[in-house]
Amino acid sequence: MLYNIVTYGCQMNVHESEKIAAILEDLGYTETQKREDADIIVFNTCAIREGAEDRAFGNIGALKQQKKKNKNLIIIVCGCMTQQKSVQEKLFKTFPFIDIIIGTHNLYKLKNLIQRKLDDKKRICEYEESGDLHEELISKRSSGDNAWVNIMYGCNNFCTYCIVPYVRGREKSRKKDDILKEIKDIVQCGNYKTITLLGQNVNSYGNDDKSQGTFSQLLQDICDIEGDFKLTFMTSHPKDLGDDLIEVMAKNDKILKELHLPVQSGSNEILKKMNRNYTIEHYLSIVEKLRAKMPNIRLTTDIIVGFPGETEQDFMQTCDLVKKVKYDGIFAFMYSKRSGTVAEKMPNQVDDETKHRRVNYLLQLEKEIKAQKEN
Ligand code: SAH
Ligand code: SF4
Ligand code: F3S
Repeated sequence: MLYNIVTYGCQMNVHESEKIAAILEDLGYTETQKREDADIIVFNTCAIREGAEDRAFGNIGALKQQKKKNKNLIIIVCGCMTQQKSVQEKLFKTFPFIDIIIGTHNLYKLKNLIQRKLDDKKRICEYEESGDLHEELISKRSSGDNAWVNIMYGCNNFCTYCIVPYVRGREKSRKKDDILKEIKDIVQCGNYKTITLLGQNVNSYGNDDKSQGTFSQLLQDICDIEGDFKLTFMTSHPKDLGDDLIEVMAKNDKILKELHLPVQSGSNEILKKMNRNYTIEHYLSIVEKLRAKMPNIRLTTDIIVGFPGETEQDFMQTCDLVKKVKYDGIFAFMYSKRSGTVAEKMPNQVDDETKHRRVNYLLQLEKEIKAQKEN
């Protein structure tokens, strides 16, 4: 019996697919890269932009033929897309050949649901509004010599463009002891060189449970674990990045000198409308401190172009910022309207042509900076 998992979205989804893989192997299935040979296909979806959702819809739709040929094929859809109730219902109705649909808060049930499906053949569609931590879920790690470790789930920031707080719920930090135990096991098994800590906003680790300590204390405790490994983490939010974190990074050889620090825009006015809670001046002061302590630090960022109300002048400020910081990598996205977010209803939505032009301009700028740095 074979399984195939299709993963969309961020590293957290990639890691969640490793947990799904462990569940399926526990049920006796083996992985196949060939979707057409699979007895179970899982779509682990992403809702961050419309494009991600459209691709998933298309690829799920394409399974109709395969299901006709193999009546016993089980098709499962989970992840951020299906945590939106309306999308879940639409998928269930549009694609009668989907067997199981769950959201992000009920993955812990997947094993039982598959067993139920095998027993009584009925379609399953389950939704839970919120959820708890599930330490019992293990991973079948398959990202080479990198091991992903979630330190927290959810997000409290409600950036006005973003769907994540709606589909992943409020911030929940794992217990420090559970994290340290997981990492000790990873180090002891000897298969991994790098450990990447994951969270939508890792700097706010412990804010929901002060007894766990802060993120920088967690980093220090991990560095104190004996063994030969490197440590990195994502994603950091500029509003919560304090001097303590910079100190811990600079002081510990185990921590890679790289930081993904999404800025989103170079215009204070847009940042305010995005509810990012920092100014460009503050952001630049963090960059300065990071480089003072770690001159060769590799800095990368995310930028959204075409947020509602973004003028040419706002965009030029983003370009100025990019030129100032000289990032080592930029992920530039065209703003995508997400249902239920605050920005969805904002006036002055930007047209697609302008978004394309701005994103291409940024990519060109990134190339030029790269060429400059290589000389
Ligand atoms: N938690 C992380 C990012 C998560 S999403 C953070 O706060 O930095 C990854 C990136 O997708 C974001 O940084 C943002 O640049 C982009 N993004 C999020 N929502 C978007 C939307 N509606 N349209 C376009 N890009 C979006
Ligand atoms: Fe989305 Fe903002 Fe949370 Fe990042 S910090 S996941 S962009 S709401
Ligand atoms: Fe996408 Fe969900 Fe990650 S919306 S970016 S898979 S948290």
